[in-house]
Amino acid sequence: MIRIGALVSGGGTNLQAILDAIDKGEIDGQVTAVVSSKEGAYALERAASRGIETAVMRKKDYDSPADYDKALADYFEARNIDLIVYAGFMLILGKDFTDRFENRMINIHPALIPSFCGKGYYGLHVHEAALKKGVKVTGATVHFVTAECDAGPIILQKAVEVKDGDTPETLQRRVMEQAEWVIYPEAVKLFAQNRLEVKDGIVRIKEK
Ligand code: GAR
Repeated sequence: MIRIGALVSGGGTNLQAILDAIDKGEIDGQVTAVVSSKEGAYALERAASRGIETAVMRKKDYDSPADYDKALADYFEARNIDLIVYAGFMLILGKDFTDRFENRMINIHPALIPSFCGKGYYGLHVHEAALKKGVKVTGATVHFVTAECDAGPIILQKAVEVKDGDTPETLQRRVMEQAEWVIYPEAVKLFAQNRLEVKDGIVRIKEK
């Protein structure tokens, strides 16, 4: 059974999808620590209501970005976390964090990487950009986290149709329902089964 730590900043519906999959016995793991970059994030309530340890760690309370990265890494390391899931986490962490959890951090991004990703593309902004471009298909991507934003090895992707009349909000909801809440728990399951192999920046999913 793996120990999962989560980084959150907001509503935490992706965290919830993972917790639900654990409840259904689909993931051989447990979420044991949830850290939010913001006070009052609803994701904290979702975790606390299940008795999961939570903490708020705000970047502005640290002297430098490196200090913040180090504090977060120390926090998860002290709790023997096997996998860190970025679950709607809106900050970019640097090498002082990412080097310590290489191939043990995953992120969900609400587009088909390499489209609509990188700095500035987060949350609703991603869907605004997709609608502005007029793409007919978008989706979600789960990838390993590296120091370069949204550029780590891709684990799973799922496409979602863009419909006439979509707003950023309706598109976000469809991408969440049809893609994010499906592929994120699936990726955590594959990690827990030790079936993700990374070689030369490419992920291979091993047969059971
Ligand atoms: C989700 O759509 C997630 O993919 C996105 O923010 C939303 C968070 O929702 N994440 C990013 O844009 C990260 N760059 P949630 O808090 O309900 O899971």
